[in-house]
Amino acid sequence: MFQRARQDGEALGMAAPRTCGGFMRSIRIVAAGIGLAALMAVAAGAAGAEEKALGTRLVDQMNALYGAHPGTRANHATGAVFEGTFTPAQGADALSSAVFLKGAPTPLTIRFSNAGGVPEAPDTHASVGGIRGMAIKFRLANGGENDIVCISANGFPVAAGEDFLALLQAVGASGPDAPKPTALDKFLSSHPAAAAFLAQPKPVAVSYGTQPFFGVNALKFTNAQGISKFGRYQIVPESGPAYLSDDEAAKRPPTALADNLRTALETGPVKFRLLVQLAAADDPTNDATKVWPDSRPTVELGEIAITKQEGRERTLVHAHQLDQGHRRFGRPDPQHAHRGVWRILRPTHQMSRSGERSVDKGAQRRGHA
Ligand code: HEM
Repeated sequence: MFQRARQDGEALGMAAPRTCGGFMRSIRIVAAGIGLAALMAVAAGAAGAEEKALGTRLVDQMNALYGAHPGTRANHATGAVFEGTFTPAQGADALSSAVFLKGAPTPLTIRFSNAGGVPEAPDTHASVGGIRGMAIKFRLANGGENDIVCISANGFPVAAGEDFLALLQAVGASGPDAPKPTALDKFLSSHPAAAAFLAQPKPVAVSYGTQPFFGVNALKFTNAQGISKFGRYQIVPESGPAYLSDDEAAKRPPTALADNLRTALETGPVKFRLLVQLAAADDPTNDATKVWPDSRPTVELGEIAITKQEGRERTLVHAHQLDQGHRRFGRPDPQHAHRGVWRILRPTHQMSRSGERSVDKGAQRRGHA
């Protein structure tokens, strides 16, 4: 896997790591996780960065690692946009008073993506790190919008934006010539949750339509009676998860995840169930590294049916417009979220493309955005 990633990195003009010793061992961990291994020889962050806001520093650091690509996302740069509908499940409005949880189906725009900031990176490229994204925009009957963002991993390497920045900086400072232990070695040994997250297997799905997704952040859902519960989204393919071996994945075309979803749509909608996993009373709701046990109950909110590729081929789903997306749906608990990843998501995601909505033209032609 790593050797192939290295070749891909070279093809994309990125620095390739050397292939020996302890460096390789730590790199393999990262390559298995967020996959920045092929980007290691890049400098860590701009001078004077500490004076900037956290969100700005995060985007700057992503640009330092992946290269700056104006007009594209600094993260989840490669994606494909689809249309669909959401049909609420009977009784879904018992959890939340969100308007789309009762009544007629709601039109959706869905963007599936690969993590990492390298546009056009193949599905299995090291910069992707095995992490996929699913961003959903609900187009409400009253003209409003609600968004949900999920990733293919249940959990996150860190609980705070500052730590995510430190992780990215450690990666940037741990190039092939860095003395051992590298900054990354040190970061992972002092952040066991990050090491565990990166070491988790992250197999490649048959298509985006066979990949489960997770909301990662805990949200507070409030119903019409004012009763609130904490929960995390889970989006489960109705056909069940389906993955490939690394060898099989390596032989596929670079955009097979999206291509195979398009092919599946030729015979009908591809469906997911939108669930919320409910927290027990003492489950942490402010720490995305702490996954709740599978034994926690889930509530079914409804069915997401992907119906066709987005015809207009444009960038639609602005990630993490969270104040809009969760105003009446699930919200982060302000008491808990202030030190968490949540706080920096919205500004970070807004500045990622400097307000631009345009995307790489080649990607547009292929339905990528
Ligand atoms: C400190 C933590 C995080 C940082 C710094 C970060 C950063 C970013 C950035 C800069 C983008 C590009 C946004 C744009 O230009 O529109 C992005 C996209 C995305 N992020 Fe995050 N992110 C973080 C955590 C998360 C979490 C916890 C999730 C999952 C719940 C997530 C899911 C996504 C998805 C799905 C996209 C693609 C959105 C789309 O298709 O429009 N991110 N992220």
